[in-house]
Amino acid sequence: MPLRNDAALEFLLSRRSRPAKTLMAPAPSRDELMPLLTAAARTPDHGKLEPWRFIVIETPAMVRLAELTTKAGERLSKSPEDIAKGRSQFKLGQLAVAVVEVQKDSPKVPAIEQTYSAGAVCLALLNAALAAGWGANWLSGWVSHDAEFCAEAFGLASHERIAGLIHIATEASPPPERPRPDLAALTTWMAT
Ligand SMILES: Cc1cc2nc3c(=O)[nH]c(=O)nc-3n(C[C@H](O)[C@H](O)[C@H](O)COP(=O)(O)O)c2cc1C
Repeated sequence: MPLRNDAALEFLLSRRSRPAKTLMAPAPSRDELMPLLTAAARTPDHGKLEPWRFIVIETPAMVRLAELTTKAGERLSKSPEDIAKGRSQFKLGQLAVAVVEVQKDSPKVPAIEQTYSAGAVCLALLNAALAAGWGANWLSGWVSHDAEFCAEAFGLASHERIAGLIHIATEASPPPERPRPDLAALTTWMAT
């Protein structure tokens, strides 16, 4: 029997994201980030394909990404509001980890399962950061779904895409709890 871990359970029952716009310096150092990435990489992965990788966006790189967001927004004829919203995660960002889904050829593991695994990596990284006492938030934004932006900004290849941009820094103040799902409505108990 695995040992009961009350602290871990308590964390999972109370965890919540910290909105990226409320995060401030300092962000984790490279040494502080390594255990969080290690925890994130310890994620279920059918066939041991490792269909994901990390790109750590440090503060100086945020400026370049904000500029590329404006360029992409103009190319896509986005509204000034959408461009400003897209820029804001980089303009205000201290540090973010781009979790990149890397589709691998496999006769056994369908593409969708590799996508699920990449999503699970995002949550594992978010939770590791929160458990370590950082403020953290999983964002996407329209840029993360634009292949041309992803190629120019992150050097992604055609079989790669952004699963999430996990912002990690210091929380200004803890956010209030948000409404949580109604378990009774979501859960079916199948006894036979
Ligand atoms: C795949 C994915 C993408 C998201 N992208 C955004 C985003 O671009 N902007 C935003 O405000 N929230 C976004 N969210 C929601 C935030 O992560 C939000 O903080 C989160 O749902 C709060 O959940 P929690 O309180 O359980 O941690 C996204 C969530 C997911 C799963």
